Amino acid sequence: MCGIIGFTGGREAAPVLLEGLKKLEYRGYDSAGIAVAGGGRLTMVKTSGKIENLCKKVESTEISGKTGIGHTRWATHGAPNDTNAHPHMSPDGRFAIVHNGIIENFAELREELIAGGAEFLSETDTEVVVHLLSRYYDGDFKKALMKTVARLEGTYAIGAICSECPESVFVTKVFNPMIVGVGIGENFFASDVTALVSHTKNVIYLDDGELAELTPEGVTIYDATGKEIQKKVSRIMWDMEAAEKGGYDHFMLKEIMEQPHALKSAIDPRVKNGKAALSELCLSDEALRGINHIIITACGSAYYAGCAGKYTIEKLTRIPVSVELASELRYSDPIVDEHTLLIVLSQSGETLDTICAMRELKARGVSTVAIVNVVGSTIAKLADSVIYTYAGPEIAVATTKGYTTQVAVLYLFAVYMAEKIGKIDDAEAKRLTGEILQIPSNIQRAIDLNPQLPELAKKYHSNSSLFFIGRNVDYAVALESSLKMKEISYIHSEAYAAGELKHGTIALISENRLVIAIASYEELFDKMMSNIKEVKARGAKVLGVAREDMKKIVAEADDVIFVPNADPLFMVPSEIIPLQLLAYYVARENGCDIDKPRNLAKSVTVE
Ligand code: F6R
Repeated sequence: MCGIIGFTGGREAAPVLLEGLKKLEYRGYDSAGIAVAGGGRLTMVKTSGKIENLCKKVESTEISGKTGIGHTRWATHGAPNDTNAHPHMSPDGRFAIVHNGIIENFAELREELIAGGAEFLSETDTEVVVHLLSRYYDGDFKKALMKTVARLEGTYAIGAICSECPESVFVTKVFNPMIVGVGIGENFFASDVTALVSHTKNVIYLDDGELAELTPEGVTIYDATGKEIQKKVSRIMWDMEAAEKGGYDHFMLKEIMEQPHALKSAIDPRVKNGKAALSELCLSDEALRGINHIIITACGSAYYAGCAGKYTIEKLTRIPVSVELASELRYSDPIVDEHTLLIVLSQSGETLDTICAMRELKARGVSTVAIVNVVGSTIAKLADSVIYTYAGPEIAVATTKGYTTQVAVLYLFAVYMAEKIGKIDDAEAKRLTGEILQIPSNIQRAIDLNPQLPELAKKYHSNSSLFFIGRNVDYAVALESSLKMKEISYIHSEAYAAGELKHGTIALISENRLVIAIASYEELFDKMMSNIKEVKARGAKVLGVAREDMKKIVAEADDVIFVPNADPLFMVPSEIIPLQLLAYYVARENGCDIDKPRNLAKSVTVE
């Protein structure tokens, strides 16, 4: 969602801020702006729409200064217009701020400020912050900011500049991510490391309530009481190329193709002596043996990764697994105790519903394991144990490698836990781990087996509505494939457990309706063939998905996508690949904005 960049150094701030905002575009936004301190004043430029509009506006504005802040806004309070765009400036022109998150008590604060004579220009919750800053300022910028944030309830990351301190930029956060980039003679902050990595790989992850003051010479961090503290400087492990398109037309295509490598990074470091080994798991063997219920929680595709992982964990450990939508779990008064284990899945590590569900269960004494991609993210920090997926930066809004690496880590967890609790022996743990190690090459084979996907997309892209059906773990694949298709191609799509069709939904099957029938799960292949016949008898066109040794499907389906033969326990990552590609090519045929689909944001930091 919204993105923040801040800079101070020896060069003009505006180009640095605009470049940073371009790096943050992928998160989703509908307006953008910058403010710069220089020559004893602040200059602010902002606009609705794309960063290109902002760049044009900046070109025709006299803007000079070496300290500044920038923002991409995804509208929550008020329409995405020029006035509501960030930054927001105090009426006296002394302060400008950018804000991510939601100030929950903004209505009371606004009323109070209006009663004191303040005039508001925008409909945003954010504008109260600049008015509070003005009210509390007595020549000490840091003090005014601390007094201001003490009045705020809700979630925020706030960057602020002051015309009277043109060499300082402040940033603070509660609940929203914020990372300080430590450079030489210049310093930065951003809500996302992708905006920092071209300048520096040395970063400090701010914790809730901390305040950082950046000047060209250095970074000073204060705790919530204003006392200076020392923080560890971490090193970002990937470089700029990882966050660029590298010759592909879209980040999504690049990220799909990167999956053999991404899965290797997720799996290989966790195999010791031929067996899954999760050294990150802070749970003794005894604690693992005491677990009698596993809850997996997440949102969107991460939730579907949980749905896929459930089959393997249950099969190997014989422990019941419930997969819960985080937005529902947090309000469901869940039945948990000290024998429950919570597994949280999140690519970004910043999804607010997931964070809240996790806090709710932690408060009930449940031990939490987070499977997260973004290092140092909120979920990673909150968890008792964190297992990073090491997928590298995921820029396309629609997740691909984020999802498959989550599934792979769940597979490793299943084998690891099954051995620890005595459900499988050493030899079986080695055999199963050997199957998991095949996933990267199976993914490559899934890509190589299906050069016809662009043609299939041409054939089917004009369908206005389609169905994905599957049974058992293929149903989990159907759920994720359907989400991928609808979110990037804007085609209405539904995923159905194939056996459920005739309980109502089959009424929607009519002449030429496209049904994508996923039939790779061998045990239920014949049942799927019957389901295919049922929809064909009602005029549907069927695109079948089956393992390459299941040639029988050719007789029933109009077209077929083959996926590599693999152990059914570990098939999902290779099975989903051609369906991710199909969604991509269909979206391309439909002329959609593939990397930044409408109305969507990469990291959903509001409820
Ligand atoms: C879909 C997609 C979303 C995310 C969901 C959770 O392609 O990307 O459904 O999976 O918003 O995000 P994370 O994994 O960052 O918690």
